[in-house]
Amino acid sequence: MTRVIARACANIALLKYWGKFSRSGNLPATPSISLCLDKLSTTTTVSSIPGNEDLFHINGKKISGESLDRLRDFLDLWRRKRLVSGAFRVDSVNRFPTASGLASSSSGYAALCLALAAHSRKRLKFNELVTLARIGSGSAARSIVGGMAAMTAGKGSRVLGLASAADIPWGMVIALVNARPKTISSREGMKLSAISSSYYRNWLLCGRRQFKEMLAAIRIFDLTKTGEIMEGNTLAMHACMLTTAPPLIYWEPATINLIKACREWRRGNLETYFTIDAGPHVAFLARLSDLESVKARAKKIEGVTGVISCKAGGPAEVISCS
Ligand code: DP6
Repeated sequence: MTRVIARACANIALLKYWGKFSRSGNLPATPSISLCLDKLSTTTTVSSIPGNEDLFHINGKKISGESLDRLRDFLDLWRRKRLVSGAFRVDSVNRFPTASGLASSSSGYAALCLALAAHSRKRLKFNELVTLARIGSGSAARSIVGGMAAMTAGKGSRVLGLASAADIPWGMVIALVNARPKTISSREGMKLSAISSSYYRNWLLCGRRQFKEMLAAIRIFDLTKTGEIMEGNTLAMHACMLTTAPPLIYWEPATINLIKACREWRRGNLETYFTIDAGPHVAFLARLSDLESVKARAKKIEGVTGVISCKAGGPAEVISCS
């Protein structure tokens, strides 16, 4: 095999992973639940190349710095495990703004994992694949599964599929705000929160309790319950971020405009709920039949630069091998 192309959808967490149980194995300290989104995808081509230096391009640009070191370490891990050998050229193309808090590492590492797995001569089991994806980036493990997925916390962290894309009656509208690359990555930010935020312990307790509650609500697709827990969880994570040293302020004025608008829309009987990752954008969870109305309203909010309406996306997949 010399060239493999794989694709994965990014996911947005309804219940957030923020904090590590341990750095080795990149184990999460909080359980999380996510929804994969069909319009936010990454397509990654992995080609064998001569020599011993890997090459990485994201959206046609050669990458450098922290992202490059992480990707190199990741390929070294696959080689150390004797799953693949030799050097690779990796070309990743995102259909959305990279490193702006829009979960590009989830789809990026999930697509890369699938492509490397196809290059590998060994047949990887599901658990081995999600473990490798999680080491690349915690949220990537959830993108392997697609649809709605859960990732449990701690030493025995597991990834579970909760619902496949076709069965999910909800979608998300992403309102884009000021999409510049962020200065503190999620990986760095959660490390800082753990050592400096006085809310960190409470955040961990809150996540554990909300995980059980959200699983029960999703089982019967109760949007009201799921949405209320989701908003509470997002605000708790951002409280933890704000009380980190240095403070992690990912929001922009438009982020707050969108939070307020969402509450107003609900009062006017448009049932939708917000969630925000480590960035300024706001994602709204709503019934599929309400996505157009949410999109039309979000577009009009001051400071919004674009809106993307998404249905649930499927699992990561290999598109071609040659
Ligand atoms: C706020 O998965 O990017 O999006 O495991 O260090 O790569 P690493 O972190 P990453 O963190 C995601 C943080 C989040 C919440 C979430 O997606 O659960």
